[in-house]
Amino acid sequence: MYEWLNALPKAELHLHLEGTLEPELLFALAERNQVKLPWADVETLRKAYAFNNLQEFLDLYYAGADVLRTEQDFYDLTWAYLQKCKAQNVIHVEPFFDPQTHTDRGIPFEVVLRGIQGALKDGEKQLGIRHGLILSFLRHLSEEEAFRTLDQAMPFRDAFVAVGLDSSEVGHPPSKFQRVFDRARAEGLLTVAHAGEEGPPEYIWEALDLLKVERIDHGVRAIEDERLMQRIIDEQIPLTVCPLSNTKLCVFDHMREHNILQMLERGVKVTVNSDDPAYFGGYVTENFQALYEHLGMTKEQAQRLAQNSLDARLV
Ligand code: HPA
Ligand code: ZN
Repeated sequence: MYEWLNALPKAELHLHLEGTLEPELLFALAERNQVKLPWADVETLRKAYAFNNLQEFLDLYYAGADVLRTEQDFYDLTWAYLQKCKAQNVIHVEPFFDPQTHTDRGIPFEVVLRGIQGALKDGEKQLGIRHGLILSFLRHLSEEEAFRTLDQAMPFRDAFVAVGLDSSEVGHPPSKFQRVFDRARAEGLLTVAHAGEEGPPEYIWEALDLLKVERIDHGVRAIEDERLMQRIIDEQIPLTVCPLSNTKLCVFDHMREHNILQMLERGVKVTVNSDDPAYFGGYVTENFQALYEHLGMTKEQAQRLAQNSLDARLV
């Protein structure tokens, strides 16, 4: 089944580039940039990838990102991910990057962007993978800081298709960023947002009504609100679901309890994505494989999920 799933043409719509930093590359970049790491070796670091919730993961994810310093580092990170895509027949990617994770450490916005963009362009030319880049705001930071990041991005407006919202969800509702998203839309950018991963269904309503998102990232808690379910079915609002992420971060206790196929059968436009594959144990095909192994996903369901990902592209 793995080979069959791997060969399905698919798009990845929920992927944090910083979350593709494999421990081997992390150590190699630390050496290249002479960054001292708190972990003795790759194995010790991998052992630390055990999380009880989103925040425990984020603490490690931001710590790991500290090795990314130069344009070449961001190029190498993105290029390694694109090679994975090629190997898994991911033909289109709409990755997120978190500029604030880097600018707050003194790395210029354009260093980050040029590295990522260079690899995405080479990926299109050399691997035939199409892309649309999404600038994601860190929701635990202030509205003012998000505005400042948007201002930094505007000279490079054409590099992006959309803005997004990630990081610690509970306590940082979409409404906090309504004005930032209004400005982004006025600049012609589309919008997406993480909502309903750990946060309540109300956050999904806010993302739709206030941020006017094209897709909901995660959104698995929509199932707790029947009126919301009806809306996302009626309006065919895509959910970018990340099964391995959800089990690693204890959103579901076990893959057997994941609701993605239940949603699919109710007519929700759900897609399968890897979120932060270096941290959660697999790329897109491994996420499909987990649904086959633990939820009995059929080939017909896999085809519908893959088709949904192609249909839910922004570009
Ligand atoms: N949720 C919120 N923020 C994130 C995630 C996630 O799954 N991955 C990287 N940043
Ligand atoms: Zn995510």
